[in-house]
Amino acid sequence: SSSKLLIKGGTVVNAHHQEVADVYVEDGIIVAVKPNIKVGDDVAVLDATGKYVMPGGIDPHTHLAFEFMGTETVDDFFTGQAAALAGGTTMHIDFVIPVNGSLSAGFESYEKKAKKSCMDYGFHMAITKWDEVVAQEMEIMVKEKGINSFKFFLAYKGALMISDELLLQGLKKCKSLGALAMVHAENGDAVFEGQERMIELGITGPEGHALSRPAVLEGEATSRAIRLASFVNTPLYVVHVMSIDAMEEIAKARKAGQKVIGEPVVSGLVLDESGLWDPDFVTAAKYVMSPPIRPSGHDKALQAALSTGVLQLVGTDHCVFNSTQKSIGIDDFRKIPNGVNGIEERMHLVWNTMVESGQISVRDYVRITSTECARIFNIYPKKGAILAGSDADIIILNPNASFEISAKHHHSRTDTNVYEGKKGKGKVEVTISGGKIVWENNELKVIPGAGKYIEMPAFNYLFDGIYKADAQYLSSTRAPMKRFHSST
Ligand code: URP
Ligand code: ZN
Ligand code: ZN
Ligand code: ZN
Repeated sequence: SSSKLLIKGGTVVNAHHQEVADVYVEDGIIVAVKPNIKVGDDVAVLDATGKYVMPGGIDPHTHLAFEFMGTETVDDFFTGQAAALAGGTTMHIDFVIPVNGSLSAGFESYEKKAKKSCMDYGFHMAITKWDEVVAQEMEIMVKEKGINSFKFFLAYKGALMISDELLLQGLKKCKSLGALAMVHAENGDAVFEGQERMIELGITGPEGHALSRPAVLEGEATSRAIRLASFVNTPLYVVHVMSIDAMEEIAKARKAGQKVIGEPVVSGLVLDESGLWDPDFVTAAKYVMSPPIRPSGHDKALQAALSTGVLQLVGTDHCVFNSTQKSIGIDDFRKIPNGVNGIEERMHLVWNTMVESGQISVRDYVRITSTECARIFNIYPKKGAILAGSDADIIILNPNASFEISAKHHHSRTDTNVYEGKKGKGKVEVTISGGKIVWENNELKVIPGAGKYIEMPAFNYLFDGIYKADAQYLSSTRAPMKRFHSST
């Protein structure tokens, strides 16, 4: 059966253009975008007069059904995605974690976890060890499984952390496959040392987490990863940029022409450390994530970097553990499962912080919440645009309605919310996923299994010029200079 839908009279916003127009959708695909589309009685009509019609959000950074730090996130691919849809996000890219170092076993396990998906999703993959098998499996992931990005953790010593040697091998492999290397940039050895210092000082509560891994360690690892990517001459994507220190390294590299992408996350943009470390453990522990939420000042600087294009897109790092799980670390902050919520709140908080405040335009909002992510991961304009032929993942945002965030009515399965009580103007009133209305009148109509896996092809525009630069470098390298040879 065919489903037809007309969105009438809204301001249709793409990253490149906006106009008052109707949007006509058939069978999950946008068929036409123009003023005054006439349709028959069999077509459902949504009135969007005075509202914005925009591409659904794409969250580049989530962890659903993630087994981490001895436990598993409470949001799985159904509950996390339902929350996303209620907040105007219609696609996310999650991180596959290898199983005992095996990428294919990791991929299969995430394929299973994702069967209950109610919206479209893609995968990045983490690389946690190195050998010939891993190198071969990376190629299979890119050529056969639709993965075009790999994350390297420079932190979580003894668990996910890798060495510089592995990072170099990984960067080279990514480059040869036309895949994008991503880094979690904190110096894991120094973090480990910092954690021991805190414990020795008797600081065992959640504030010890932030104190043990200051911004200087994020700056160091960001700089190191950027320089190694420059040495290999391959693009680099820095995930969850939380500090001025890391952001300035990215700014410097971009100014020099290096292909570096910086992803701030909502928590880093809208929260600062003041008042977070409540004496009540559970109240404080919900904010524990890595890199940590920084002191006041970093948030505003990251907003400014986003508005000027130094940073390019916004993720969430949605990775939620409930109060019981967070309490695993009641006597030792090192055991608190790391992660905060955000998949449902991102679109509202970015609107409020960046657009409502006057820092960016509505078109830029579309770019940083959707289009840029689709472009980077090579799925534009299937995703990230309201154009004829694009997938019908669409939101209707009413700039005059208001939102208020609370664990009392959010859709995530977790029992706390790091944005508790935040409110403002600009509300996602309707979410359309795959051509179907899944969120309207504050009600979700989601179906497990309705979401599709989106394959992300390699060799995207980020690699333009990379191989040419190598060829030029090789052709310009000279033979050893004769004067250094003593005999012969
Ligand atoms: O605290 C965090 N960020 N948890 C998720 C894992 C990661 O490092 O992205
Ligand atoms: Zn990370
Ligand atoms: Zn993450
Ligand atoms: Zn010689």
